[in-house]
Amino acid sequence: MAQHDQQLDTLVERIRAARRLTVLTGAGVSAASGVPTFRGTDGLWRQHRAADLATPQAFARNPRLVWEWYAWRREIVARCRPNRAHEVLAGWTMRNPHCRLVTQNVDDLHVRAGSQRLVRLHGSIWELSCWEGCAPSPRTWRDERVPLPDALPACPSCGGLARPAVVWFGESLERDDVEAALEATACDVFLTVGTSAVVYPAAGLLDDARRQGAFTGEINLEDTSASSSVDVAIRGAAEDVLGAIEAAL
Ligand code: OAD
Repeated sequence: MAQHDQQLDTLVERIRAARRLTVLTGAGVSAASGVPTFRGTDGLWRQHRAADLATPQAFARNPRLVWEWYAWRREIVARCRPNRAHEVLAGWTMRNPHCRLVTQNVDDLHVRAGSQRLVRLHGSIWELSCWEGCAPSPRTWRDERVPLPDALPACPSCGGLARPAVVWFGESLERDDVEAALEATACDVFLTVGTSAVVYPAAGLLDDARRQGAFTGEINLEDTSASSSVDVAIRGAAEDVLGAIEAAL
């Protein structure tokens, strides 16, 4: 406990002194809101095979099955509210124009909490894009219908099949998002919160930040592959630890 308190104090000091602060978040940040994580005991990848649901091949094979899975997740997320972790992080981005938030989460709870300068590396479950990749359509458009109608969503430009505007396994991330995330690794403090840190390129951002001299910290319920390489690893729930940091700042 004493060590935990000391680490928390160190992190608070570093955050207080930082001009450029970057926070990378993952599913653990939304867990307290009721959004399932991917690799935990009840995680989505414990019940489903990613290859059957989150790849372009899966969508090409059976778009209805993939859409049903995303419609189910949209219904869960629609019932969820941002928690203390989202609120604290949003507050930091509002108060500090050099604070940047990079998330792997597609639930948009950071958006709903009012976060500024947010990079959504894996897209949004509330946005769609054209599966055919037709040129004139806006690249993505918002669709917040819950539940989704029986007919599969269509592209407003070409009438072809629409898809969730999320990044699937085997797909490239949007170039602008990657650039913004890489730019955000030039910072004084880089904090990784609620992510198992196994999916690249997000998992590599921490190393990039460290190489550029950032002080690095992790907040997670468990040890991850990043824990041994950060300056401070704090075991605890994101909503509690970020709440405690905010109270101490
Ligand atoms: P994971 O499910 O892999 O990891 C969630 C992490 O959050 C774990 O390390 C948990 O220990 C931690 N955790 C759970 N509850 C927490 C809490 N209340 N406070 C703090 N930590 C908590 O989720 P991600 O790391 O986000 O990608 O997964 C990365 C990517 O893999 C996802 O964006 C998704 C997935 O496959 C795609 O779909 C492309």
